[in-house]
Amino acid sequence: MMSLVKYSAWCLTNPASLSHTVPRPQLCTFPSFNNVQHCNQLSFSSLKPLHISSVEKFGLSANLGRRVTDCRAYEADRSRPLELNIELNDEGEGIEATQRLKIGLYFATWWALNVVFNIYNKKVLNAFPYPWLISTLSLAAGSLMMLISWATRVADVPKVNLEFWKALFPVAVAHTIGHVAATVSMSKVAVSFTHIIKSAEPAFSVLVSRFLLGEAFPVPVYLSLVPIIGGCALAAVTELNFNMIGFMGAMISNLAFVFRNIFSKKGMKGMSVSGMNYYACLSILSLLILTPLAIAVEGPKLWAAGWQKALSQIGPNFVWWVAAQSVFYHLYNQVSYMSLDQISPLTFSIGNTMKRISVIVSSILIFHTPIQPVNALGAAIAILGTFLYSQAKQ
Ligand code: 3PG
Repeated sequence: MMSLVKYSAWCLTNPASLSHTVPRPQLCTFPSFNNVQHCNQLSFSSLKPLHISSVEKFGLSANLGRRVTDCRAYEADRSRPLELNIELNDEGEGIEATQRLKIGLYFATWWALNVVFNIYNKKVLNAFPYPWLISTLSLAAGSLMMLISWATRVADVPKVNLEFWKALFPVAVAHTIGHVAATVSMSKVAVSFTHIIKSAEPAFSVLVSRFLLGEAFPVPVYLSLVPIIGGCALAAVTELNFNMIGFMGAMISNLAFVFRNIFSKKGMKGMSVSGMNYYACLSILSLLILTPLAIAVEGPKLWAAGWQKALSQIGPNFVWWVAAQSVFYHLYNQVSYMSLDQISPLTFSIGNTMKRISVIVSSILIFHTPIQPVNALGAAIAILGTFLYSQAKQ
């Protein structure tokens, strides 16, 4: 029995995808389909580095069978959706089901970790309003976890050179700014409001690409920005606890993350590191950038006084909250980078929008955030706009 499916490029090229090994691109026998055309161009992108940018001729014999695979692969930089039309047999259907289940699990884990991170992050910031230190601790926790994982061989040590770190530097600067700005935002406004404004990231992406890089987009992409910008504006003007620093923090975070993606695309082509290790290296470099800045902006004196105050108000649980927000920050980001190894950029961006909905709804429920109907309408319009944007980008 034959069926037509869309499939992950990595999974197609790596049968190890079914056995939980660290994903790496490999040239090896395909698991369940035949007659793939020859491949003479392979290149790897490193932001989401495991995807193959061209598999026209895969080095397999031309006379393997009659089924033809049209592999239109892509750079794994969220720039193009993956469209692979592959005819598979019963075994292929089994693989497809396994892959769907795996992606579902990645998504569920990513959203759940993100919700937990956002809850603890806000609880900590409410008691200890020092977002620069909190941002630093979350990067430190991730860096420490990965260094231990590499030292104990739980995770493969990435083979990276000086060129890699140089190319990663601007990405890490943008990541640091985006991370601190989001945390500053959440220290000033409701979590839901920060995430409503953060749902406008696609609008920033299009505007920066259009006006700074001269990239043109189809008209539907521009049209999809209308509900995104309009919805965010409506949510902002009707936000009961509006705060300019909180608003600007979320806006700066959007801008910084757009530049993070642009630098990743520009600097990292041709380098190969797994999603998990890429994010680990990004955390370590960002930590080195952020630590002196955090000391300069807030500093140990303020931290010590604030820590004592938070401990006296919350009790020893406060330390666990800080640990939880730090560890969950790393874990949700790690899972999101790992899931990028598995899915198309389009699926990822839809997943990210769904993630924002989960965070907005759960934080409103948990923190009893006051919200007016017109405010909720603005958020809904903005989120709808990001879905339309994802579709228009196809
Ligand atoms: C951060 O602190 O880096 C932000 O909360 C990131 O938010 P996002 O991953 O949902 O864009």
